[in-house]
Amino acid sequence: MSKKTDLSVNLNKIALIRNSRDTTSPSVTEHAQICIDAGADGITVHPRPDQRHIRVDDCFDLAKMLSVEFNIEGNPLAAAMKSDRNGVSDYPGFLDLVKEIKPAQCTLVPDNNNQLTSDHGFDLFESGDSLSPIIDELHSLGIRVSLFMGTDLEQINLAKQLGADRIELYTGPYAQAFMNNTNLESIFRQFYQAGETAAELGIGLNAGHDLNLHNLPKFATIPQLLEVSIGHAMTVDAIKMGLDNAVHAYQQCLGKKD
Ligand code: PXP
Repeated sequence: MSKKTDLSVNLNKIALIRNSRDTTSPSVTEHAQICIDAGADGITVHPRPDQRHIRVDDCFDLAKMLSVEFNIEGNPLAAAMKSDRNGVSDYPGFLDLVKEIKPAQCTLVPDNNNQLTSDHGFDLFESGDSLSPIIDELHSLGIRVSLFMGTDLEQINLAKQLGADRIELYTGPYAQAFMNNTNLESIFRQFYQAGETAAELGIGLNAGHDLNLHNLPKFATIPQLLEVSIGHAMTVDAIKMGLDNAVHAYQQCLGKKD
């Protein structure tokens, strides 16, 4: 196959199901292994300060066993937080966690502690100055840095100037347009142009949020797309078809399995 977009499976929802009881089941590491055996190229987690899904200990457990790329995403300014649950370690702060684990990639996201899920990218005109030393520090540890972004071309330019290796395009608006079939082509064109601009600038292109088996094939025609990270829809599909089959189905959408 000529096209190669990596699939990084986000395991937050596996942890969310586990956390609904005082149990170790379903195991995040076991499900990571199922994804890897089924051909996933990477594993993503988004450890939030309240540890409502992925916990600090999950990050360390995954780091020990992963044979594929580990991507940790979150707000670099998220501070330490005491755990209010028995047997769950305290949250050390996002950057302290990442610096200790040293994943292959760290995706910085401008979410706040109370947000249900990430729903916008950075405004780098506002937060560029605070991100710059963070990007440098992560680089000094050998960690690739991606910034969660919208499709604004000036912002992508700024991401490059700040030294980010990649941007992750927030695909919520694309998924919404696809579902409602409103303005789909004009919104898709913005993402396509963002891909072209990223290539011209020499910054890598990732994407994620609300991607699913229906909307991914069109999105994956963006030639510069290096990686998608998919969690919610993958978990929903896994309930119907099994996690290994779901991973296969997403790889098919990316043109990687027959
Ligand atoms: N990218 C980022 C920055 C996210 O926060 C999330 C959700 O945790 C995803 C991608 C994956 O989104 P979804 O769960 O809708 O596939």
